[in-house]
Amino acid sequence: MGAAAAGDDELSAAIAGKTERILVSVRVRPLNAKEIEIGDSSDWDCTNGTTIVFKHPPPGERALFPTSYTYDRVFGKDIGTRQVYELGAREVALSVVRGINSSIFAYGQTSSGKTYTMTGITEFSVADIYNYIKKHADREFTLKFSAMEIYNEAVRDLLSTDSTPLRLLDDPEKGTIVEKLIEETLRDQDHLRELLSICAAQRQIGETNLNEMSSRSHQILRLTIESSPKVYAGRDGSGALIACVNFVDLAGSERASQAMSAGVRLKLNTQERECISS
Ligand SMILES: Nc1ncnc2c1ncn2[C@@H]1O[C@H](COP(=O)(O)OP(=O)(O)O)[C@@H](O)[C@H]1O
Ligand SMILES: [Mg+2]
Repeated sequence: MGAAAAGDDELSAAIAGKTERILVSVRVRPLNAKEIEIGDSSDWDCTNGTTIVFKHPPPGERALFPTSYTYDRVFGKDIGTRQVYELGAREVALSVVRGINSSIFAYGQTSSGKTYTMTGITEFSVADIYNYIKKHADREFTLKFSAMEIYNEAVRDLLSTDSTPLRLLDDPEKGTIVEKLIEETLRDQDHLRELLSICAAQRQIGETNLNEMSSRSHQILRLTIESSPKVYAGRDGSGALIACVNFVDLAGSERASQAMSAGVRLKLNTQERECISS
């Protein structure tokens, strides 16, 4: 679910307490009212904190597929988002305050609980980041926030009411940048909450047979944190840190045929798969 990237391997390893920098978790959501009503049952069993078992392999094909899969973490239907965050994302999210870039993203088919989980994880991360700042009064922190949506190949600013697609530029130093993407300097946690609700309202909503309300767009929320010691720390600016954490909520991963989508959506799904497999 999350990945931390850093120029300084040792620092990153020390923070994570281990050398692994990619953590993959699986979360199974509970059956919803509709599924319970039609007598559906879950196809998956979480047998322990790292193993998930497919209960109904197609007869005859049983020997062809493994039925048990192991991940860094597996969260069953009774596990709340707080625990998913603490065991699966907290470490990755908090690395940003120590100057390490990180990304947390949710991947899965429509209605599997990506937005539900990412919304909670973003909220818990923000609360922990602000808590950390409060406890480190010896440093000066500046937080900036930007938000974009990628829908059918077009990048749109979720903090702007103007829906004109933004251009991508290649910067030799910074890599790919989104031209004219608004970056708000945050006043406080309430300001960030306000911006997050603007993003949720702006996000494109499409319709599929799997979930009428599920979004057909990718969303990337980016929080950039700069900090430096309040007391002069040396002429070279040592002690100054800058990093960002990305919260990525991907559009549904299902095949277009499964969602009975056509045209635009079919195109979107194909690009998405290319993107994820590359
Ligand atoms: N762990 C969960 N517990 C309870 N309800 C959930 C959980 N995960 C998802 N849901 C509910 O299931 C529905 C689909 O979830 P959503 O996050 O919108 O899926 P996705 O973004 O993957 O399409 C929503 O109504 C959501 O509130
Ligand atoms: Mg969603």
